[in-house]
Amino acid sequence: MKIGIDKIGFATSNLYVDMAKLARARNEEPGKYLVGLGQSKMAVIPTTQDVVTLACNAAEKILTPEDKAEIGLVIFGTESGIDNSKSAAVYAADLLGLSEKIRAFEIKQACYGATAGIAMARGYLTLNPTKKVLVFGADIARYGLKTSGESTQGGGAVAVLLSVDPSILAFDPKTTYLARDIMDFWRPLDRKEALVEGKYSSQAYLDFFTEVYTDYVKQTGLTSADFDALIFHLPYTKMGLKALRLVTEKATPEVAESLTEEFEASRLYNRNVGNLYTGSLYLSLLSLLQNSTKLQSGSRIGLFSYGSGAQGEFFSGVLQDGFTALANDQTVATMLAQRQEVSVAEYEQIYQAGLNVKNGMQLPIEDDPAPYVLTGIQDHQLQYLKR
Ligand code: HMG
Repeated sequence: MKIGIDKIGFATSNLYVDMAKLARARNEEPGKYLVGLGQSKMAVIPTTQDVVTLACNAAEKILTPEDKAEIGLVIFGTESGIDNSKSAAVYAADLLGLSEKIRAFEIKQACYGATAGIAMARGYLTLNPTKKVLVFGADIARYGLKTSGESTQGGGAVAVLLSVDPSILAFDPKTTYLARDIMDFWRPLDRKEALVEGKYSSQAYLDFFTEVYTDYVKQTGLTSADFDALIFHLPYTKMGLKALRLVTEKATPEVAESLTEEFEASRLYNRNVGNLYTGSLYLSLLSLLQNSTKLQSGSRIGLFSYGSGAQGEFFSGVLQDGFTALANDQTVATMLAQRQEVSVAEYEQIYQAGLNVKNGMQLPIEDDPAPYVLTGIQDHQLQYLKR
């Protein structure tokens, strides 16, 4: 039985800051952000968007009424949740008009959350092959103004619909994973911004990739030549390139060139959005599918998921016939191109406003064109609106 990704939707805000301008404002060479980190634009998330609205805006782009009726499980991967008790999945399921006869819950392990959801979905679909599963990866990545992590912020959501006989990607059976307690990145309960040991986290990412990829090729007998593309969790896009180089330095020149070309396609969207934590790997998949000129039905893609703290997983899948419809869809590229630029000063103001959203506030929804918005907080209850 084939199980995998049937649809992928993506949403971010309509605002971004230019990374060259942010670099100059921070007395850095633009080349450091543009080339050294591989980031060109960074999504700026207004107070009227949170993980629930971003997730609903992503799901609304892909779900038909038939899909909605078939969803039996909603798993919400996030590390920037909106409540310490109630899950973002329950809010999202209600806003999207899903049936109440479902399971809906939130799941957390840093940027690994959506991959954890997908792993659960595979088991669920094996037992319930006529159902569909909706997995979200939605986050707002915040490190703090003028910190070294600032240039690797961003935000947005992916909505991944999983099913039997999927249209886009059918998973191979094998996956390899590793969980190890390390302090590379974390966010204490009283903080909205993450704390990070930046250089250590980048090295931990590479170490986890090496371990799970080595395990994977050993256990499957596949080599780098068996993959048409390798894609990565992209906290900043140079991070994935560093991991890819660990493979290509041992591959033939033809394989190295081809994997590098596909990697460039896979980082295009992420380069213009920034880190969206849980959704990052799946935005990279979307970027690959919509920007590659070589992939075809039957191509094999390897995926590396990493969540600080830390959990890593390597898995793979084979493209299905239906992927060409997604490949030809330019909606995401158009949406990213039509966003509005904000100045560094405006970005700083929006950042501060995000930290100061409080009970009793009405938020400026007239400035936000998204269909789903957060209108405010009344009686300590988040108020959402679908327009
Ligand atoms: P930094 O100190 O700002 O930058 O930290 P740097 O000095 O390391 O420079 C960055 C790169 O720019 C270097 O390249 C420089 O050489 C280059 P590298 O040596 O690494 O290849 N550079 C230039 N290139 C071209 N022209 C120039 C120039 N100047 C310098 N003029 C760091 C960067 C990423 C550490 C920081 O931004 C940070 O702490 N970010 C947050 C942590 C992070 O993203 N870690 C990634 C791995 S952990 C992960 O992926 C999980 C995560 O998503 C969270 C989760 O799981 O929930 C973060």
